[in-house]
Amino acid sequence: MISNIITKGINGMPKIPGDKSISHRSIIIPSVSNGVCEINNILKSEDVLHTLNALKSMGVNIAENKNKIIIHGKGLNSLRAAKKEIYLGNSGTSARLLTGLLSSQKFKSVLTGDKSLSSRPMKRIADPLTKMNAKIYTTNGSLPLSIESSNLKPVNFNLKIPSAQIKSGLLLAALNTKGETSIIENKVTRDHTEIMLESFGANIEMKNIGNKKVIKIIGQKELVANNIDVPNDLSSSAFFIVCALINKNSKIIVKNINNNPSRNGIILALKKMGAKIKLINNRRNNNENICDIEVVSSGLHGCELGPEFADLMIDEYPILSIAASFANSPSVFRGLKELRVKESDRLKLILLNLQNCGVNCKSENDDLFIFPSKEYQIKNNLIQTDFDHRIAMAFCIMGTRLGPLNIKDSDSINTSFPTFKNEFNNIGGNFR
Ligand code: S3P
Repeated sequence: MISNIITKGINGMPKIPGDKSISHRSIIIPSVSNGVCEINNILKSEDVLHTLNALKSMGVNIAENKNKIIIHGKGLNSLRAAKKEIYLGNSGTSARLLTGLLSSQKFKSVLTGDKSLSSRPMKRIADPLTKMNAKIYTTNGSLPLSIESSNLKPVNFNLKIPSAQIKSGLLLAALNTKGETSIIENKVTRDHTEIMLESFGANIEMKNIGNKKVIKIIGQKELVANNIDVPNDLSSSAFFIVCALINKNSKIIVKNINNNPSRNGIILALKKMGAKIKLINNRRNNNENICDIEVVSSGLHGCELGPEFADLMIDEYPILSIAASFANSPSVFRGLKELRVKESDRLKLILLNLQNCGVNCKSENDDLFIFPSKEYQIKNNLIQTDFDHRIAMAFCIMGTRLGPLNIKDSDSINTSFPTFKNEFNNIGGNFR
């Protein structure tokens, strides 16, 4: 894809697709609940379709209709073995959550993925599940992995890695395990799984004790399905939000955005940088916070963000780095270790591609430093994405100020935001 400079700003109301994290959970949890569940505004991107096809291949009756799906759930033990390996493409969320879910099932499953997913760490979910008695066999710590039938036992976990995927995998295993499993989280991670399990009647309790969170779940209670309206994805909206901020004469409104406090670090960070962002029409639906967001062009200044921000916005550092490149003073973002094990080594690609664009930046340990300047000379006009959707979209936004910028392998954008290019070009963007 080629991303070109825009001159008249971007203006309008781009349509942001449904939230990716909530969409995955909106397929998995109703599939093992009882009753018919109608899910509106589900994200139909490649990642989510892998979760959908996985559950279908295990016998779940799922009817599809534009951006609505209807799941006929038949309870915790209603899944049956898939006829072949379950292929999960690029989706780490599908892989970690399904490993947990399938550990407690009475059949064997094999999970596979694309090249990038097959190099991502799976021991982080396999090891704690093994403590519950799960039988999981990884390939050198990654996919392909197989899960054999076993009787799980409840365990008390103290999570060392801050990861909603690990936490959710454990909760989904505990859901069908007799007895009480407890999880202590030392850092905040997104809590969509707990919210949905609670509203489906799971025997789950969450408590904040000091700066830790304790989750207790007593398994083998059948769930009852509720209808779900998936809110729109803050992470996807962040690309357009930053684009409006860094381009003159811009004003956009993005609607129906999930503003879950365990995930809204990008808004807090951009406001700290002086962004003119208004959250309006705050409301709640399915126990999630939702709002509309109004953004206008803003002069940004740099900022220092501690590691606590990484917990609240891990997916947004690629686009935040673009915002920081157009600020009037340096920024430092600390504690980005987890960025190295995402769809790509994002810390490495942010540095490489910013440097390709002429931006002075460096990393020390897991901290990222950006020293913006008024003008940039592109040094290497080929943005390397390693098939990472968020790197591709972030550098499309970079192109609106520096373009034309060539973005390699930009088809990866379909993993989370298949309508990205159309939506952007509709409001004044210029991607080819
Ligand atoms: C996700 C959790 C995060 C995030 C990913 C989606 C989820 O990963 O980066 O895009 O849906 O639970 P980790 O939990 O591994 O940090």
